[in-house]
Amino acid sequence: MHSLLLQSLFPLLLITSVLLINVELSLCQDNEQYTNCSEAINCGGIGGISYPFWGVNRANYCGLPGFEVKCQDNVLMINISSINYRILKTDSTAPSVTVARQDYWGTLCPPTYVNTSINFSLFNYPSGLTSMTFYYACNTSITISGYTSEVCSTNNGDITVWSFTQNPPVDLVATRACTAGVSVPVFTTAAQALEANRTTIQEAVDEGFELGLEIDNVECNSCVQSGGKCGHNATGGFSCFCLDQAYAAVCNAAAPGAQGTSVPLHSLINYRIEFQDWWHQQFFITS
Ligand SMILES: *[C@@H]1O[C@H](CO)[C@@H](O)[C@H](O)[C@H]1NC(C)=O
Ligand SMILES: *[C@@H]1O[C@H](CO)[C@@H](O)[C@H](O)[C@H]1NC(C)=O
Ligand SMILES: *[C@@H]1O[C@H](CO)[C@@H](O)[C@H](O)[C@H]1NC(C)=O
Ligand SMILES: *[C@@H]1O[C@H](CO)[C@@H](O)[C@H](O)[C@H]1NC(C)=O
Ligand SMILES: *[C@@H]1O[C@H](CO)[C@@H](O)[C@H](O)[C@H]1NC(C)=O
Ligand SMILES: *[C@@H]1O[C@H](CO)[C@@H](O)[C@H](O)[C@H]1NC(C)=O
Ligand SMILES: *[C@@H]1O[C@H](CO)[C@@H](O)[C@H](O)[C@H]1NC(C)=O
Repeated sequence: MHSLLLQSLFPLLLITSVLLINVELSLCQDNEQYTNCSEAINCGGIGGISYPFWGVNRANYCGLPGFEVKCQDNVLMINISSINYRILKTDSTAPSVTVARQDYWGTLCPPTYVNTSINFSLFNYPSGLTSMTFYYACNTSITISGYTSEVCSTNNGDITVWSFTQNPPVDLVATRACTAGVSVPVFTTAAQALEANRTTIQEAVDEGFELGLEIDNVECNSCVQSGGKCGHNATGGFSCFCLDQAYAAVCNAAAPGAQGTSVPLHSLINYRIEFQDWWHQQFFITS
């Protein structure tokens, strides 16, 4: 009696299970990019870093080239035009990132003198920044005003640095008054606080400066609003990774350019045969 009922139910059970497994398998496959890009980057005290940034626990397809970050000794770093910056915060609505030069972190005398320069196809300088200029090994006989002189103790001995919150009237390197110069952006509010003696040069530099991101935020916002995660595909085009598959713009849009990876049919058939055998054993041995 019991076994008869099971036998009559068996085809139905089998079909349902196979259907469920098919769905699960295809979800697992397509979920991979969605799952990976759902993870934000957390490093040190900085968290919630997502598109266009990638690296650490986010695969490169979750971001854009040029926005790779690294977590080094609990500090989130980005390399822009061969200079390492520590990321202090990000603002996804602007969108922008606040960075501070790693070589100027805690010192005004880095081992090498490199001017701040950004890749303008990835970043821009928003308003509210002032360029500070640091000059090294200057001829003390020259007369010029408007700077603050400080001495750094380094492994290479004491170095005198002249700091200007505004550009000096002449380029002191070009006129050979100093041997090296470096310009570093700071927030204008920090430069003003500095001029009013309310902060130190080091504090102003360590506050960092903001960089706008040259990305299409509308594109990503639409994807996120539809429940997707932003990223890019193999040819570098924008992709919206969704629970079911990847779309060109937003989730569930029957879009050309959708690139969901489906499970090859033969693997399903193999699975089904194995499963069928297993079910047979369960039913016919136990009853
Ligand atoms: C995402 O992908 C990256 C790189 O392939 C990997 O290191 C990371 O563990 C993945 N994270 C998740 C949550 O799958
Ligand atoms: C600037 O970024 C773009 C986009 O990632 C890249 O193609 C280009 O090579 C970069 N330029 C420099 C000078 O690094
Ligand atoms: C930044 O990246 C470039 C190549 O992408 C590399 O040559 C350079 O050493 C890196 N700079 C730092 C400070 O890590
Ligand atoms: C420093 O400047 C003075 C005055 O311009 C000049 O006479 C002197 O040669 C300079 N010293 C060096 C080391 O360049
Ligand atoms: C950086 O810029 C400053 C000010 O414009 C200039 O004096 C200096 O020579 C530049 N430094 C380098 C290393 O190019
Ligand atoms: C800031 O301090 C310097 C040196 O102590 C002084 O010469 C200057 O007048 C001060 N500036 C203001 C705005 O208080
Ligand atoms: C990549 O994305 C672009 C833009 O969304 C699309 O036109 C292209 O067909 C996609 N390529 C692949 C290989 O999916």
